[in-house]
Amino acid sequence: MICDLSNGSTIDPSIVRRILVTSALPYANGEIHIGHLVEYLQTDIWVRFQQLIGNRCLYLCADDTHGTAVMISARKAGVSEAEFIARMQESHQRDFAAFDIRFDHYGSTNSAANRAICERIWHSIRQAELVVERDVEQLYDPRVGTFLPDRFVRGQCPKCGSPDEPGDNCSRCGHHYSPSELIEPRSTLSGATPELRKAPHLFIELEKLRGFLESWTQTGDHLQAEIANYLKGHFLGEPLRDWDISRPAPYFGFEIPDSPGNYWYVWFDAPIGYIASTHEWCERHGERLDDWWRSPECEVHHFIGKDITYFHTLFWPGMLKTAGFSLPTKVHIHGFLTVDGEKMSKSKGTFVAARTYLRHLDPSYLRYFYASKLSSRVEDLDLAVDEFIAKVNTDLVNKIVNLASRTAKFVESTGLSPTYPDDGGLFVAAAAAGAEIREAFEATDFSRAVRLIVALADRANPFVEERRPWDLRKDPAKAGELQDVCTVALNLFRQIVVYLSPVLPRLAEQAGALLGDPITRWEQSQTPLVGKPVNKFTHMLRRVEEKDVLAMIEESKPAGEVDTATASPAPGVVGSTTWNDSGVPLAAEPLAPECTIDDFQKIDLRVARVIAAEDVPEAKKLLKLTLSLGGDTTKNVFAGIKEAYKPEQLVGKLVVCVANLAPRKMKFGTSEGMVTAASTDGAPPTEVFVITADTGAVPGQRVH
Ligand code: MSP
Ligand code: ZN
Repeated sequence: MICDLSNGSTIDPSIVRRILVTSALPYANGEIHIGHLVEYLQTDIWVRFQQLIGNRCLYLCADDTHGTAVMISARKAGVSEAEFIARMQESHQRDFAAFDIRFDHYGSTNSAANRAICERIWHSIRQAELVVERDVEQLYDPRVGTFLPDRFVRGQCPKCGSPDEPGDNCSRCGHHYSPSELIEPRSTLSGATPELRKAPHLFIELEKLRGFLESWTQTGDHLQAEIANYLKGHFLGEPLRDWDISRPAPYFGFEIPDSPGNYWYVWFDAPIGYIASTHEWCERHGERLDDWWRSPECEVHHFIGKDITYFHTLFWPGMLKTAGFSLPTKVHIHGFLTVDGEKMSKSKGTFVAARTYLRHLDPSYLRYFYASKLSSRVEDLDLAVDEFIAKVNTDLVNKIVNLASRTAKFVESTGLSPTYPDDGGLFVAAAAAGAEIREAFEATDFSRAVRLIVALADRANPFVEERRPWDLRKDPAKAGELQDVCTVALNLFRQIVVYLSPVLPRLAEQAGALLGDPITRWEQSQTPLVGKPVNKFTHMLRRVEEKDVLAMIEESKPAGEVDTATASPAPGVVGSTTWNDSGVPLAAEPLAPECTIDDFQKIDLRVARVIAAEDVPEAKKLLKLTLSLGGDTTKNVFAGIKEAYKPEQLVGKLVVCVANLAPRKMKFGTSEGMVTAASTDGAPPTEVFVITADTGAVPGQRVH
């Protein structure tokens, strides 16, 4: 039977939308965790869906790098801010890539492009006479020499007297206060008693934009209904407070050109990072920024979490409007991740870093699970461990992947039937269901899309079970029937995988390879494949094991709080049984002959700071490092680590050097010591790891 596929499709191929999409820019002072991933996966799925249906869709993001928190973290790590944010950005991008989150460009708010666009927007805001200056009293840490954001102050609640409460509101009685009202306040940075200091700040008078903000938030479907109502009830119901957008030095950020000594508050330059990232993408691709940010033909969609609603629905549209940029077509706001019904918790091991997840579980599981839970509402999303395992194993592996794994091998030699067999109308019905699935994806109602897709698998499976290909293959007279049954099963599988491809790009790639027809367009769900060879079936997705989930949670618990019921090191021993380190490096290089403590003492190992690093262009492997042993003592060292490190990655690092090594004359100069590094014998030179000292160590200390 040839399928009639004329019904069901609502796709008008002549209409291509231009869509710019962003996720919130993750802060550069922490690693990506599974809470963040709710957002980046939601956005990535929507972007991939738009691309699949043929729209031109760009996905942009960047690291949010400025602010006191980053400044303090960099100091604690003993590195420059530039070094700190560079490392974080690398780590963020690595995690996103591992979850198949595919940005068209990933920038940084600490970029030349961002500074330039901030200056332009600032100019417009000044011209619109929206800026006023007022003195602000803020707590100041005299020991560290910096003003303190609310969360860096703790003390006794002025209302209920609860000790050690944070600077904004009391965790016991819920009272809101300003940090200066705390009794016996302390700086969390140094323990010093903060002083109240006055400094001039710049404010944007938001109330002057009221008319615009009322209309933009309440009409035009830019916001989910619950958000529009919330803004109306909470903020727009009373005069809008002026927004304090400057911070006095010291502050890691951009200095305000017409207000020397003052810096834009991180939340001023952060959203401008969306535009700056687009600008950098445009530069690389020969496109015009105005076609994306000042064109009525381009849609702008922001995906954010509910905690940053205020910034994206009031300040940001206000800034865009004043500076003449496009306003967001839609701000899509999601809720927060809970694990087993509770807030993510470090002590319970449910605050899982993306990196930790990857050590234990397949990223496709999380993509699928989040998709199956996400809706277009602002609700929180719960990751219940049992439900996670059940959904992945029952729906994804048993119902969907099994359609292929139980049939593909029987048609490896024959390929697919030359015409599409009678399947009782399954393929046509599932093609028609595409319209509703597509609508659900468009509306970011992914849980509905997944429900509809799983329902298709529920209809496909009985077909395979009733026709029993595993029995048919035993009877040579039934070879034709076997081929037909497998052709149907593989086509129903492929159809489902096309629908799921925004969620599971890896599965789509595998299915495309199996049938020699890469999945790239939604329309591929509307026509069956026939007469094609079938490649050898290779494993697609394995079942998730409960023990792997538990091991991940165990590893996420802070050291010292290991739950001995699940990991069982000897009593009193802190550790985990889940690391599973390979034996290869040790086997590759057996231990050296025994030595005495005196032998060891001859080698003077010292902590040193890399204060300069430069390439030695004539040498393939060498970098020239200047090490400081503290005070005025420095040493020049040539280190064979060029293939593993860029010079800028090393500056600021605390390394361990052999400080009493006899100087050695080399072609390029004299090497006065040696930097220690780890590597596996025989491994490529890119896999060299410099030994660094733990936080708190200082140059000149001896390694005993
Ligand atoms: N840097 C700001 C955003 C600036 S946008 C111009 C920021 N960064 S963040 O790293 O704290 O969060 C990034 C995004 O992840 C936010 O949209 C935030 O809501 C989201 N999430 C962070 N933790 C989350 C959960 N536990 N659950 C769901 N989303 C979460 O905010
Ligand atoms: Zn209180």
